[in-house]
Amino acid sequence: MITHLVFCTTSGVDIPGADYQLTKLLGLGPSVKRYMMYQHGCFGGGSTLRLAKDLAENNKGARVLVVCSEINVFGFHAPSETDIEVLVAQALFGDGASAIIVGSDPVLTVERPLFELVFTTQTLLPDSGYAITASLNEAGLLPKIHKDTPRLISENIGRVLVEAFQPLGISDWNSIFWVSHPGGRAILDQIELKLGLKLEKLKPTRNVMSDYGNMSSPSVLFVLDEMRKASIRAGMRTTGEGLDWGVLLAFGPGLTIEAIVLRSFSI
Ligand SMILES: CC(C)(COP(=O)(O)OP(=O)(O)OC[C@H]1O[C@@H](n2cnc3c(N)ncnc32)[C@H](O)[C@@H]1OP(=O)(O)O)[C@@H](O)C(=O)NCCC(=O)NCCS
Repeated sequence: MITHLVFCTTSGVDIPGADYQLTKLLGLGPSVKRYMMYQHGCFGGGSTLRLAKDLAENNKGARVLVVCSEINVFGFHAPSETDIEVLVAQALFGDGASAIIVGSDPVLTVERPLFELVFTTQTLLPDSGYAITASLNEAGLLPKIHKDTPRLISENIGRVLVEAFQPLGISDWNSIFWVSHPGGRAILDQIELKLGLKLEKLKPTRNVMSDYGNMSSPSVLFVLDEMRKASIRAGMRTTGEGLDWGVLLAFGPGLTIEAIVLRSFSI
């Protein structure tokens, strides 16, 4: 039974919120505890899971429904060749929604866990507040992406990973599976280059980017699903491309990087 609902969107503000609408649509009980996470942008896919993990671990028997939903067409405007920052955002974004249930102490007779959320971090990068912004005006939401964004993220990703994986003694980033927010091709290229990642590491991420665009907060759950299904199709040992440990990375305004250490399960 769903005990908590965490709903994330940057695509609108209504009262009562989208959490209320979804509770009604799904017929969830009136005592479901709701959390609305607005304006996290692309790191919402990570921050919702971080909150859900805390809720699940601190409330016995909790089953937390996490939903990320974005209608990015809401930010569409007539393209302007003189305002490249706006043009880039419009070229990259797509619409999407994803959902996942997070709990602890799985009841293995009726539940089949797919991944364990082992450890979470959130990092605010210094002097990068200008990199991704959006303002709401009469014309809708106007997102702007500065050209420094790929450099700022790729320069900081190494120390975020070190903080997350040091307790496990893992420092070879090719020895783990990768579930990254797609962001934009330049971000993925620069992360690959900076960390010396093998090309196959970001394949599920690039597949989602190519099929759906950057859907903002729902994207990482699409990548998680893509990776799990590809692992099953390829007859691999675990849901994480046959590996035990992996990382889920989400990044967005702030700039903020969410990193979650994941453990896969046997297929
Ligand atoms: C947008 C993008 C897909 C375009 O890729 P591309 O077609 O290969 O083009 P490039 O990256 O080589 O950039 C082409 C030109 O646009 C410029 N440019 C790229 N992004 C820009 C931006 N956000 N603002 C202004 N100019 C930009 C580049 O400086 C380059 O200029 P130059 O030709 O004078 O050197 C790629 O730049 C990208 O992925 N950017 C990151 C997007 C991002 O930050 N997303 C975060 C969301 S969470």
